[in-house]
Amino acid sequence: MFNKDIKELVESANSRIEDFRNLVQSGMIPLDGDFFPSVHYPPITMYDPITEEELFKTYTLPPDGRFDVYVHIPFCIKRCLFCHYPSLYNAPHSEKDRYLDALEREMDIYMRLLGIEKIKARSILLGGGTPTDLTPDQLRHFLDFFVARLDMSKCRQFNYDVDPSTLVGTDGVERLRIMRSYGVDRLTIGVQSFNDKILKKMNRSHDSAVALESIKNSQEMGYKVNIEFIFGYPGQTIENWVEVLEKALSTDVDEIQFYRLKVIPYGDQEGTIQKIKTIKPDEVPPVEEAILMKQIAIDLLAKHGYNENLRRVFTKKRSSISLYAYNQCCNLYDEIGFGLTAFSSLRDRFGLNTQYFDEYYQAVDEGRLPLNRGLVRGIDEQIRWAIILPLKNYYVRKKYFKKVTGVPIEGLFCDKFDALKESGLITENDKHIELTTLGAFFADEVVEQFHQRPYIPFPKETYTEGPFNPYLNPTILNT
Ligand SMILES: C[S@@+](CC[C@H](N)C(=O)[O-])C[C@H]1O[C@@H](n2cnc3c(N)ncnc32)[C@H](O)[C@@H]1O
Ligand code: SF4
Repeated sequence: MFNKDIKELVESANSRIEDFRNLVQSGMIPLDGDFFPSVHYPPITMYDPITEEELFKTYTLPPDGRFDVYVHIPFCIKRCLFCHYPSLYNAPHSEKDRYLDALEREMDIYMRLLGIEKIKARSILLGGGTPTDLTPDQLRHFLDFFVARLDMSKCRQFNYDVDPSTLVGTDGVERLRIMRSYGVDRLTIGVQSFNDKILKKMNRSHDSAVALESIKNSQEMGYKVNIEFIFGYPGQTIENWVEVLEKALSTDVDEIQFYRLKVIPYGDQEGTIQKIKTIKPDEVPPVEEAILMKQIAIDLLAKHGYNENLRRVFTKKRSSISLYAYNQCCNLYDEIGFGLTAFSSLRDRFGLNTQYFDEYYQAVDEGRLPLNRGLVRGIDEQIRWAIILPLKNYYVRKKYFKKVTGVPIEGLFCDKFDALKESGLITENDKHIELTTLGAFFADEVVEQFHQRPYIPFPKETYTEGPFNPYLNPTILNT
């Protein structure tokens, strides 16, 4: 792209910086511009301990008996410097065999608890870690025992989240063939960047040529392909970010996602990136530059027909989105998770598995679920959950909200909804409440307005005393 075109992109994206400054002044965004990814409510790692008995005592199967299914495989080839997820890198085959064996038994424990012989899958997501960081034989073995426990007759999507280097070479092509033969139809490939210098700085296991080869191999084998990127990473500039986006567009994949670099972890683990920022603070692009990068990406993708069809997810066709994410965050359907750190989101309750291997193996050996934290939500939390997830990711359907919570949305949080409307962050009609374009850009921050005080992500002094300061203006259910 010519400098003139980049200049034009920057000029048209500049107004987002003004919006960002206004929202910092309003108390909605912390003064340092940090963000907290709003993935669930209450936030995933803020739960108290819970036992299997407490979590499942009053649980009933969903009326159609169907679940979205997640499996976590916590192994990786290398440790990426930005990653805050718990995973073992370069683990011996024997450790992976041991884990797969425990996973198989965990599935049986869960099914026994639910009183079912097979899990009726609605959609499947295999994540990690790198769930393809297994030998082809281990992958086949896993898929054998996994699908044997599922009723796949109504499964609409089977997705793997993968690292590119596991999809190239003889073993990579073999893995692609194996997964396809078990019904896997979609891959989310963690490309992260097409700039080799930045990939090195990330300590990724691949370069841009391998990433491109993995995409080509996957497309040739008939998979729908989603590729993921990080922006705001050390070494990134507007110019080299635009180059990365152009290369992404040239692959003609079905879906493109990008994540703003999260330096300070929001969960239990801490990636090396935090230390890098402490030692070399100037290496990380300033927040306002990251805001520009995001708006430029949105504009450039729109020019090529990719629109935001689920939050942060850009596709040409709406049907290309992740059904696993859509079912959980927009339809609020029941989802079961297996493996280390996996969670289950079950209508009015949430359970999170341990992040420690020892605890995981011990629980399974004792015939218990490896659960360690969770919550059966009360009505207040249930209402907030049924607003936060759909509002962030798609929109709140008023009729459906009443079906899920038992109460009409009219009359709830009126002051907050009015204030967000006046600030141009949400719109409402007789059927829906949804984020505006501006609200969607700052989706995590807008939905945090509905958090109860113990779950506000940053301390009080991080926000100005403006009208959206979540401590000074908490969202009260009946106002
Ligand atoms: C759960 S990770 C697993 C992806 C897969 N293991 C891989 O690296 O190819 C899913 C995505 O989250 C994003 N991500 C991970 N750590 C991040 C961080 N610190 N900040 C922003 N995005 C991050 C990356 O784009 C990554 O592909
Ligand atoms: S980003 Fe992905 S490949 Fe890298 S360490 Fe984290 S989970 Fe593993």
